[in-house]
Amino acid sequence: PSLPPVVFHWIPWFGSAAQYGQDPVEFFASCREKYGNVFTFVLLGKRVTVTLGPKGNDFVFGGKHTVVAAEEVYSSLTTPVFGSDVVYDCPNEVLMEQKKFVKVSLTTDKFREYIGMVDDEVTQYMDNEPPFRVFQTGSTTEWGSFSVYKTLAEMTILTASRTLQGKEIRDSMSKGFADLYHDLDHGFTPLHWMFTNLPLPSYWKRDDAQRKMTDFYLGIMNKRREGNPDDYDDVMSSLMRQTYRDGRSVPDHEIAHMMIALLMAGQHTSSSSTSWVLLHLADRPDIAELLYQEQVEHFGISGGDFREMTYEDMKDLPILDAVIRETLRMHSPIHSIMRYVRSDIPIPSSLAAPSEDNVYVVPKGYTVLASPAHSQLDPLLWKDANVWDPNRWLDKVGFAAQARKEYDESSQVDFGFGLVSKGTGSPYLPFGAGRHRCIGEQFAMLQIGAIVSTMVRKVETRFEGPFPKPDYTSMMVTPLQPCDILYRRRK
Ligand code: HEM
Repeated sequence: PSLPPVVFHWIPWFGSAAQYGQDPVEFFASCREKYGNVFTFVLLGKRVTVTLGPKGNDFVFGGKHTVVAAEEVYSSLTTPVFGSDVVYDCPNEVLMEQKKFVKVSLTTDKFREYIGMVDDEVTQYMDNEPPFRVFQTGSTTEWGSFSVYKTLAEMTILTASRTLQGKEIRDSMSKGFADLYHDLDHGFTPLHWMFTNLPLPSYWKRDDAQRKMTDFYLGIMNKRREGNPDDYDDVMSSLMRQTYRDGRSVPDHEIAHMMIALLMAGQHTSSSSTSWVLLHLADRPDIAELLYQEQVEHFGISGGDFREMTYEDMKDLPILDAVIRETLRMHSPIHSIMRYVRSDIPIPSSLAAPSEDNVYVVPKGYTVLASPAHSQLDPLLWKDANVWDPNRWLDKVGFAAQARKEYDESSQVDFGFGLVSKGTGSPYLPFGAGRHRCIGEQFAMLQIGAIVSTMVRKVETRFEGPFPKPDYTSMMVTPLQPCDILYRRRK
C-alpha cells in the first residue's frame, strides 16, 4: 500500500493552514488538479487526508464508527462550549441515544405550532427593531438598509428560543441570556478548536458563560419540577422524561448541556443560510418577485393581506423550496466534515488508486475529510456550478431534475418540505449523511422558509456593489462583513 500524495508546503508544522483557512473550496479544487481526488495536507501538525467527490463523501460519511470517529476531532471545540457528557464528550452510542431523545420532540405536531411562532417573532422584529425604521414609518418609495448577518443572527436566536428552547429562554433573551450566548459564541472559533485552552479573556468568558448558562437551564428544570412538569411540552420537557437504554434517566446537567448544544448547532448554520438566501434574492429581484407571487397566490386574501402559514403549506411552495435548496448548494455552512482515523484504512480503488495492484492507505492517527461544499460546487457535476439558479431544482427535464429525483428516491424518510438523500454517496449533502447526520434539517427548513416568507411579503430588497464573498475564517461560512441589504416597504 502507498500513502496518498502530500500537498506541497514550505513550513513543516504549519503546512497548508493558510490556503485551507482562507478558502477551503478553492484549495481543494486546486489540489485536485495536481493530485487527484485523494491527497493529504498538513494542518498545524495534523495530517488530513481529503477525499473529494460523491465517492469521497461516501468514504467519510459512510465510514464505520470503529474506524473513523468524529469525537476525537470535534471534542476540543465543542466540549468546553456545550459542557461534559454530551455529543462528542461521550461514547458514540450515547450520542446516538441523545439524538433520538431530541428527535422525539421534533414532531410534525410541534412544527405545526412553531410556524406561527416564527412568523410572529419576525413580524415583531420588523415592527419594532431599529434597522426596519423605514418599514415602520417610511413610505413605499423610501429605501432603508439592514446589516444582513447581524439581523438574521438576531432573528434566528429569537425564533429558535421561542420554539425549541422554550418559553423561559425566550423571556430571558433581553435579560442577560443573549450576553451569555455571545460570550459562549466567541469561544466557538477555529482558534478555540486548535488551542482548547489559552490564557486569554475569550477563553475565560467562554468557560464562565458555559457555567452560567448551565445553571440557567438547571434553574428552569428545578422551577418546572416545583410546579407541574406536565404543563410543559417542549424539547426540555421531553428530555426530562427520557431514559437511556440501560434504564438511567438523563441527568439534569446532560439536559442542560444538550440544550446548549442545540442552541449552538442551529444558530450559525441557520442564520448564515438565511442571510445567503436574502442576499441572493436582493441580488436577483426577478426571482424575489416570483417568490413573492408564489406567496400571493398561495396565501393572498382580499385587501392585499395574507392568511396564516401552516406547516402543510410549506410543502407546497416549489419556488421557496428551490431557492433554499440552491442556496444550501452554494453556501453550505459547514465546509469540512472530519473524522479521526482509529486504525489504518484502505481507500477503495474506485475512489483513487496509485496503480492497478496497489491501494492508498490512510494510517491510524490521520484525519479524513469530506467536503460536500466542494462537491456541491464542482463544475464536473453541476452545470454552471457557480451560478445561483434555483431553476435547476424546478427544471422538469434537465440533469438537475434527474439528480433531484434520485435524491428524493433514496431518501428513506418523508422530509416533507425538507429534502435530500440520506445516502452517504450523494454530491449534495448540506445536512450530512450517515450516523452523524443532522437532526435539525426539518426545523431549519421551517425556520428559514418562514423567516424568508414573512420578510418577502413585507419588503422588496436590492443589493448594491459586488456580491459578498464567503468568509471561511469563522466557524461557519458566513457572508463577508460588513454587508447591508437595501429594502423598502411593499405597496
Ligand atoms: C449534524 C448541517 C441546522 C443539530 C449536522 C451535520 C451537518 C449539519 C452537515 C453533520 C456533521 C458531521 O457529519 O460531522 C446543518 C445545516 C443546518 C443545520 C446546514 C441549517 C441550515 C441544525 C439545527 C439543529 C442541528 C437547527 C438543532 C435543532 C444537529 C445535530 C447534529 C447535526 C444534533 C448531529 C451531530 C452528530 O451526530 O455528530 N448538521 N445543520 N442542526 N446537526 Fe445540523
